[in-house]
Amino acid sequence: MEIRKYPDPVLKKIAQPVEVFDEELEKLVRDMFVAMHASNGVGLAAPQVGVLKKVAIVEYEDKSYVLINPKIIDRKGTQEGEEGCLSFPGIYANVLRPLWVKIEAQNEKGELQTIEGEGYTARAFLHEMDHLNGKLFVDYLSSLKRNAIKKKISKNTGGHF
Ligand code: NI
Repeated sequence: MEIRKYPDPVLKKIAQPVEVFDEELEKLVRDMFVAMHASNGVGLAAPQVGVLKKVAIVEYEDKSYVLINPKIIDRKGTQEGEEGCLSFPGIYANVLRPLWVKIEAQNEKGELQTIEGEGYTARAFLHEMDHLNGKLFVDYLSSLKRNAIKKKISKNTGGHF
């Protein structure tokens, strides 16, 4: 399972809701954990591995979360902090996020759960949920900062934008 890097167009697409909770879905979740661990990530969304389904995982401070069809049902406060993304190796930027969120999501069995996260966990949930809507953390930055990042990536990969 390969993690897609920006500017792969799949990263800007909107993922579809999961309707079937089967073996294939369980395997996707397992494979995503393997890929995330291999890259030392704290979160991964299915579009980052080229699968346009509303599936995201987060693992932080020994807690694992599987977020399928997640929805934000409440949020409080704000926090500003540094964020990175497995699809943007070596790129970090400050992003403003809610300090606390309550999410409703299904697990890989289809069971609906309410999950709360604060601080870095909330940041990870929101970052991964954005991926399911084709939104990337650099989209929160000013165009000046975003262009500087694009230039840096273009230089590293020899790619064009
Ligand atoms: Ni990311």
